[in-house]
Amino acid sequence: MKLSIINGPNLNLLGKREPNIYGNESFDVYLDFLKKKYSKINFDYFQSNIEGEIIDQIQKVGFTYDGILLNAAAFTHTSIGIADAIKSISTPVIEIHISNTFSREDFRHKSYISPVSKGLIVGFGFESYRLAVESFITNYK
Ligand code: DQA
Repeated sequence: MKLSIINGPNLNLLGKREPNIYGNESFDVYLDFLKKKYSKINFDYFQSNIEGEIIDQIQKVGFTYDGILLNAAAFTHTSIGIADAIKSISTPVIEIHISNTFSREDFRHKSYISPVSKGLIVGFGFESYRLAVESFITNYK
C-alpha cells in the first residue's frame, strides 16, 4: 500500500512552533516512527508552505496512491484550489489536524477540505496521522 502524507504551511516548524499547541516533537521523528511501525507501507512525504505546490502534489499522487493524509494547515480554512484538486483526483483523502480546530478561534471552524474528503481526524496530536493510517489499512482491498 502506498500512502502520501502532505503537510501544509508552517508544519515544517513542528517541534519549534507553538509547542503548547503542537508539541515538542519534529514531524521527521514522528514520520520515522510511522515508517518503522508500518514497515510494509510505502510512505511518501511532502511539505510545502506554497499553496500551488500542494495542489501539484495532490495531482501528482492522486491517481496512483492508495490514500492521502492531508494536513493543509492554514490553507484548510481558505483554499478553494486545494478543495478542487481533491475533487479532481481518484485517491481518497483523509483530512488531518493535530490540534482540535473546533476548540480554537472561529476562523478555524471552517474547512474547505472536509466536504470533499473521505473523513476527518482532528485533535489527537500527531496520533491523528496514525489513526488515518489505521483507517486506510482497514479499508484496503
Ligand atoms: C492545523 C490547524 C490549522 O488551523 C493551523 O493553521 C495549522 C495546523 C493543525 O494541524 O492543528 O497550521 O492544521
